Amino acid sequence: MKQIAAVILIMITIVSLVVIAFTVNQVDQEETRLKTDLQYRSTLLAESLKETVEPNFINKSDNYLQNVVERFSSKERFAGLGIYDNKSNVVALSSTIPEASSAATKVAADAMDADRAEGGFVKLNQEKTYLLAVPMHDDKSIVGALVVVQNAGYIDNRLNEIWTNNLFRLLVQATLLSLATLLLIYWFLYTPIRNLVAALQTDRSGGGKQNPKGLTNSFLFRPLINEVSRIRSSLLEARSSASEEARLRLEKLDSPWTAERLKEFLKDILKGRTIFMVSNREPYIHTKDGNQIKYYFPASGMATAIEPVMQACGGMWIAYGSGDADKLVVDNKDKIKVPPFEPKYTLKRVWLTQQEESGYYYGFSNEGLWPLCHIAHNRPIFRKEDWEQYQKVNQKFADAILLEIKNQDRPIILIQDFHLALVPRMVKAQRPGAVIGLFWHIPWPNPESFSICPWKKEILDGMLGADLIGFHTQLHCNNFIETVGRELESLIDYEQFTITRNNHISFIKPFPISIAFPNQDKSEEDNKAAIDKIRKSLDIKTKYIGLGVDRLDYTKGILERLKGVEIFLTKYPQYKTQFAFIQIAAPSRTKVKKYHDFAQEVEKEVERINSAFKIKNWKPIVLLQRHHNQEEIQKFYKSVDFCLVTSLHDGMNLVAKEFVAARDDEKGVLILSQFTGASRELKDALIVNPYNGEQTAESIKQALEMKPTEQTKRMRNMREVVKNNNVFRWSAELLKTMIDLG
Ligand code: G6P
Repeated sequence: MKQIAAVILIMITIVSLVVIAFTVNQVDQEETRLKTDLQYRSTLLAESLKETVEPNFINKSDNYLQNVVERFSSKERFAGLGIYDNKSNVVALSSTIPEASSAATKVAADAMDADRAEGGFVKLNQEKTYLLAVPMHDDKSIVGALVVVQNAGYIDNRLNEIWTNNLFRLLVQATLLSLATLLLIYWFLYTPIRNLVAALQTDRSGGGKQNPKGLTNSFLFRPLINEVSRIRSSLLEARSSASEEARLRLEKLDSPWTAERLKEFLKDILKGRTIFMVSNREPYIHTKDGNQIKYYFPASGMATAIEPVMQACGGMWIAYGSGDADKLVVDNKDKIKVPPFEPKYTLKRVWLTQQEESGYYYGFSNEGLWPLCHIAHNRPIFRKEDWEQYQKVNQKFADAILLEIKNQDRPIILIQDFHLALVPRMVKAQRPGAVIGLFWHIPWPNPESFSICPWKKEILDGMLGADLIGFHTQLHCNNFIETVGRELESLIDYEQFTITRNNHISFIKPFPISIAFPNQDKSEEDNKAAIDKIRKSLDIKTKYIGLGVDRLDYTKGILERLKGVEIFLTKYPQYKTQFAFIQIAAPSRTKVKKYHDFAQEVEKEVERINSAFKIKNWKPIVLLQRHHNQEEIQKFYKSVDFCLVTSLHDGMNLVAKEFVAARDDEKGVLILSQFTGASRELKDALIVNPYNGEQTAESIKQALEMKPTEQTKRMRNMREVVKNNNVFRWSAELLKTMIDLG
């Protein structure tokens, strides 16, 4: 839109300049013409009057002369006449000329001095006026002067009229020109390009191969269309051979999984059944930004993992609409196709009241279940009111699911995380034939820890409505089975890892979640430019950089990590001014007091360490406390010497895997907490106990001094692990298990 406005503005400016130049010239010519004409007419008039007055001027009575003057004064445009003696005294004067008019007296005197006609334009009675004086003679000697006074105001009127007409014409021209430009851009550029984009989008989402509407006839676009058509053909061919290849590899679960392979695989096993993904957090959050609506992807490990799966397999994702513009973009069934830039599946939003959000999300989920499941030494808070809202909202989600699966024969429903523990039972009770999975993204604690929850039985029973309950690790599965064994009447099969309750069997299995392992599409130069840009923008001039990427959450061990950096710089002062640590911290759950206080504590700690170590412009820690999108974070991953993940307890931790996936240069070191699920897989990381600051400090030193060959060896191994165990494989295995169950 800005470019169109600029084009129109440039055109209007050019047209205006041309019109103004022409008008100046026209006005100039017209002014000369009118003035010359007036001077000519004044001369003729003065000469003829002179003939009447001059003979025997001296002998004529003043009355006679006054009569002559009055007789001629009423002619059109002729404003008056003055007769002066040779001393420039008034002899006779039209009443229209003020007696004291110094201009008329002066022009008379000038004409007599020069002994020729003299004239000029002056203001008389507030009017533009032309004065012309001619000397009168009596036998060669000058006896007086005759002054002709003409109205000249009409000259200015005429010139103003020209300006007004031309400016009005300019206004009309500019309006027509703007309209014409808009229409031309719309018809000849916007519409064809929109059609071209639509055709390419259809290709990308696997639609038919039609030429974009109207473009083939456009001489402007024909060469482009020919080229694009060739690219589209190659794309469709590539897609069909990828699909064929994926189909041939379907049964080999251990070869690398791709989005394409997952799609083919699911097509094969789903046989037309739809997948319903359900979570609290939605993948796209729409927010208002002035008059515009924007969207962003949340800082959520769950959303990061599930989104590529949904993009590959389609279906519906039901989630809480938490954005302040979410309601503005959905249809009348609260649905929207996403991703917004290339729709591939449906997002259905569930709305919550403030009271519901506060009790269910902030209260029971994040002040109760979150600290209950994480061993991070934060006491859980359980309030009856929160529990009531938690039940109410879980029912709301269950109702939304039941509505959507109303016409589905055997729907597959995969529920995510601790916010929705009661939903499996609620749905199963209404639709026993639905296949329900529940994936728990956070750790499951030991039975003693869990037993403090006042509503433990209800939660466990709610979860056991699922046919399959997944955790990241076998340890969490064991903890869950033991917890159920202690709390509920049920039959446990430790060989099959099943729990039977009220004749319904739930399978408990580990599925270590992962990421999509993207194909890198940036060249080394692009990466280098990105790195330089980051260094410049943060004013980092050090040789080494370390990185932490987390939500501002007390389970992530951020304070422990900062302590590690402090010990490192104290023990190894040679790294001062040589090393900087960047902490990206996405604000999270800020309405919960613990999170609010924690964010302040982190800030204070950074300030304390920075002021203790600061040397000139160098400070050791750069805290970036805001939401960063994936593209921005990727640049950081690629720019640093090591990534520090020090969670005190974490189901998986996808930052560790993202860092590894980003390092296609096979450089960089991962320092990883032993209390993350990821540490079970990424054995080539430097594994640390985050509570042991000395160990973290030593690992930082080891990372900075690690030989490039060793870095490559370790990174290559870890990349192999993440590549082979990506999220497409995770979902293929999980969904296959679910489908085999029902
Ligand atoms: C963890 C949970 C996710 C959650 C994420 C972000 O990773 O397992 O379910 O989405 O934290 O937290 P938030 O409360 O912002 O959704």
